[in-house]
Amino acid sequence: MNVLFINIKELIQVREKNIDFVSGKEMNTLPTIKNAFLLVENGLISDFGDMKDCPKSTYKTVDATGKMILPSWCDSHTHIVYAGNRENEFVDRIKGLSYKEIAEKGGGILNSAKKLQVTSENELYNQSKKRLEEIIHLGTGAVEIKSGYGLTKDSELKMLRVIKKLKENYPIEIKATFLGAHAVPNQYKNNKSDYLQMLIDDILPVIKEENLADFIDIFCETGYFTIEDTEKILKAGKEYNLKGKIHVNQFTAINGVQVGIKHNALSVDHLEEMRTEDIAALKNTKTMPVALPSCSYFLSIPYTPARKMINAGLPLALATDYNPGSTPSGNMNFVVSTACIKMKMTPEEAINAATINGAYAMNLKNKTGSITKGKLANLILTKEISSYNFIPYSFGNPIIETVFLKGEEIKYI
Ligand code: NIG
Ligand code: FE
Repeated sequence: MNVLFINIKELIQVREKNIDFVSGKEMNTLPTIKNAFLLVENGLISDFGDMKDCPKSTYKTVDATGKMILPSWCDSHTHIVYAGNRENEFVDRIKGLSYKEIAEKGGGILNSAKKLQVTSENELYNQSKKRLEEIIHLGTGAVEIKSGYGLTKDSELKMLRVIKKLKENYPIEIKATFLGAHAVPNQYKNNKSDYLQMLIDDILPVIKEENLADFIDIFCETGYFTIEDTEKILKAGKEYNLKGKIHVNQFTAINGVQVGIKHNALSVDHLEEMRTEDIAALKNTKTMPVALPSCSYFLSIPYTPARKMINAGLPLALATDYNPGSTPSGNMNFVVSTACIKMKMTPEEAINAATINGAYAMNLKNKTGSITKGKLANLILTKEISSYNFIPYSFGNPIIETVFLKGEEIKYI
């Protein structure tokens, strides 16, 4: 697809030279070009610059007067393949039960697994594609999707096959993560190590054979999986070329961050509970910390201490965690606003975290996350707005006019 955008009020997140990610003080710099043009050829960004240097072109032209363009959001942590919903647990929580108490009485992840196990692959695909289309409309142009609501060989593979089919049928970039170690299913209640061994011996070889995953994940948390379990899963993943992206420090800090770093995890996600030593451990590593503020909002748990982390020189990525239990929302615009409002990130830091750093956390740093020649033309064209600060400021309101994936205007729904 070829398009020329002209008169762009401000072209946001312009990186002439591709970089891996931004950290510390650099997170507060968001390079832009005012009154810009952007040329898209064959679905890729081929040129951009000041309007006075705008090339003549016969391509379709979009006049963006008063509007801004930024790279699509990169949502590096979701669970959008699931069956049914958990609104009942939501009401239970309003009435006073905690996430932990709900899980203990048979709700939580096991409840979603029960529903998913009796849902056909086709039906699961149909339910999940609606959520995928929803997030595309909300400006997400790259997304990671996890398994982890199957918890049996057949159902974990069913989830991963649905992710693969979504990847084949939609223009959004999709990465798949194997999260078999999300919770211990009831039949293995007294035999967690057999469950882990089943994941490793029975499922990983099929994942390899059918090329069903890019990453491996585990819920490293008190009451779920220990740091020893985490080490085992990350090592097994490595054998199959799957990098780690782990759930860690959501409710308790048990040295999971350190295990992730030791095994070169691509990202460590959640991090609502961060000790000084956890922050120190992440310094100068290639492991991206990922915050999920919609989860903190929905569960009323602490927010990831972004200020402390960024002030200590760390990078940070932002993602939704879209899932039926802790975050039934895939709205990256809300995530960016909430990061500013509740975590005191500046708009520059939040936009960097939701684009370039998110792309890194999915191993898509060479494909998306910035306005750079050769990257995918996955773009958000805003409505007429006064400045980019308006994006997080106008929380909950739709600021997107049109979404483009590979230069193509998206028109489902
Ligand atoms: O990232 N923390 C673990 N997993 C999901 C929630 C799972 C659920 O409640 O269904 C999360 O928050
Ligand atoms: Fe999650």
